[in-house]
Amino acid sequence: MINFNFYNPTRIVFGQETIKQLDALVPVDARVLLLFGGESARRNGTLDEVKQALGQRVVQEFGGIEPNPSYETLMRAVAQVRDQKLDFLLAVGGGSVIDGTKFVAAAIDYPNDPWEILETYGRHVQTAMPFGSVLTLPATGSEMNKASVITRQSTQAKLPFASERVYPRFSVLDPTKTYTLPARQIANGVVDAYVHIMEQYLTYPVDGMVQDRFAEGLLQTLIEIGPKVVTETTDYTLRANLMWAATLALNGLIGAGVPQDWSTHMIGHELTAEFGIDHARTLAVVLPANLLVRRQAKQAKLLQYAERVWGIRDGSDDERIETAIEKTRAFFESLGLPTRLAAYDIDASAIDGLVARLEQHGMTALGERQDVTPADSRRILERSL
Ligand code: NZQ
Ligand code: ZN
Repeated sequence: MINFNFYNPTRIVFGQETIKQLDALVPVDARVLLLFGGESARRNGTLDEVKQALGQRVVQEFGGIEPNPSYETLMRAVAQVRDQKLDFLLAVGGGSVIDGTKFVAAAIDYPNDPWEILETYGRHVQTAMPFGSVLTLPATGSEMNKASVITRQSTQAKLPFASERVYPRFSVLDPTKTYTLPARQIANGVVDAYVHIMEQYLTYPVDGMVQDRFAEGLLQTLIEIGPKVVTETTDYTLRANLMWAATLALNGLIGAGVPQDWSTHMIGHELTAEFGIDHARTLAVVLPANLLVRRQAKQAKLLQYAERVWGIRDGSDDERIETAIEKTRAFFESLGLPTRLAAYDIDASAIDGLVARLEQHGMTALGERQDVTPADSRRILERSL
């Protein structure tokens, strides 16, 4: 196992009827900015419930944070916090709203142009405004991690940053708040969480026995509940298990002490930036191709994945690996996520541009061994067609 330093200060408040606990979680004298997305949180009553729980506190609203939150929109929230002298942020939404809130928190006292936070991947963030979240979409793990992904609309750059300063103080996870999600978003959530686990698990063995077993357990849970959680909109058990699995998939636990890949994500971000494809849908396309292209470097873990996650024991090494990748692809497809770029009318002519953007964004040494070059990314994209 690789040496590690594990830290996660986010308090999780999980279960039904937990929004009322905001009263105890948010400082009594806080001047709060509520950040949310389109109208879903208002329409399904979550926003009202949150406001009621906040009681007599000063509460202002900032709506309109879009999926794949934009720097341009978020800078207006930064201005509102400064003008109105607000001092606590509360995100109500999915990954986009929570990521956006992390950026706002870090930007408020940032000494330079806040876009630099993205250009330097968060390395120079010294302070951030305290914030919490009320999660309405299980997928990204943003509710319990230090990462955020922001898009600059003017240049279509979608870049990640991370900082220990932007862990949420707390996140309220009420699975019943997911009942209003369209099936497409739930399916996206299952796949995003699945690929988060794969990015930390499917690398090379370092004898992280606990991390491997935890990762395999989470993957198997997603395989078990995936098809049902998409159609059963009000099944508490399914929604609760999806929510907790998605949080644990990316809160640092399974990634501590093991190598991490993330190349599927970085290639996927370019597809979202260029073509507007939902985040998880880019991953469903890139992951199977990535595993095929890099099967040699990942051989030992692919064989472990085949046996322990999918129960594949028959056939040669190559056959077992191929079957495991095919089963992964079939799982994504069964949830309604295509696994080929052709489904989005994207053909080989797009690849030059995508590879150029990866280079422009410094994504030239990706993967668990930093050996995924632009030429490899090209091969992965070609395999995704
Ligand atoms: O905007 P509203 O009207 O609220 O609608 C949202 C949005 O259209 C809707 N929604 C959310 N909760 C709902 C609901 N609709 C009905 N009922 C509810 N309870 O769902 C739509 C998608 O929301 P979004 O927040 O964009 O989805 P998701 O949670 O999948 O977040 C995606 C973003 O997270 C980033 C992605 O790149 C993308 O920008 N990621 C963040 C990560 C992190 N911080 O660690 C890691 C991930 O890999 C990912 O990159
Ligand atoms: Zn993701």
